[in-house]
Amino acid sequence: MTQDDLKRAVAAAALEDIDSLLTPDAVIGVGTGSTANQFIDLLAARRQDFRGAVASSEATAERLTAHGIDVLELNHVGTVPVYVDGADEIDSQLRMIKGGGAALTREKIVAACAERFVCIADASKFVETLGGFPLPVEVIPMARSYVAREMVKLGITPVYRDGVLTDNGNRILDGFDRLFEQPETMEAQLDALVGVVTNGLFAKRPADVLLLGDAQGVKRLTR
Ligand code: 5RP
Repeated sequence: MTQDDLKRAVAAAALEDIDSLLTPDAVIGVGTGSTANQFIDLLAARRQDFRGAVASSEATAERLTAHGIDVLELNHVGTVPVYVDGADEIDSQLRMIKGGGAALTREKIVAACAERFVCIADASKFVETLGGFPLPVEVIPMARSYVAREMVKLGITPVYRDGVLTDNGNRILDGFDRLFEQPETMEAQLDALVGVVTNGLFAKRPADVLLLGDAQGVKRLTR
C-alpha cells in the first residue's frame, strides 16, 4: 500500500465518521494538505447533502469551489459541527504539529470553532513525542529576526522558510532541534512572543478523533 492509498483510506473513513453530521444546514470545516485534498475529493460526491464548507486556506477554498461545494466565510457561520484535517505529527493525546503547508493560522482558527476535530493521517505521522517534524511559526514579516532570536533562547533552531508568504501575508520560521515534552507550555510561550501570529503546536486544542491508516486498515482513536 502506498502512502497515497493510506491517505485515501483515512479520507474515506472520515467521510463515514461524519456521515450523521452531513445535514442540509451543516457547514463543514475543511483542512489543507494532500490528505485533506483526498477528503475534499470524496466529500464532493456528497455535496447535495450539506450546505457548504469553511476552508482553512485559499488552496482548499479553490479545490472546494472547483468541486461545486459552496465556500462560506467563518465569520458568517460561527461554529462548525466538525473540522477534518491532516497533521504533520500527532501523539497519543492527539496533540499535533501542523503547518507544513503554511496554513497553520487559519487551521487553528477553524479548529477553535469546531465542535469536533477529526484528524486524518497515515501511520508515519504518529509519534511518541512531538518535535521530529520542524515546528512552523507564522510571524509578522518585520518581527522575523526578533522572533528567531527568541526561539533560540527557547532551545529551538529557527530556519526561515524562504520564498513562502502565508495566505495572511506573513512569513514562516521552521523550528528544528527541539522535542516538545510539554507542548501546551511551548505553544503558550511561542504565542506570547511579540510578532508571532500562531505556532504549529496544536496542544491546547488537540484533535478529538484520530483516523490513523496503516497496511492493516484504519484505526479510530479518541481522547
Ligand atoms: C498544512 C497542514 C497539513 O495538515 C499538514 O502539513 C499535513 O499535510 P499532508 O496531509 O500533505 O501530509 O498543517 O498547513
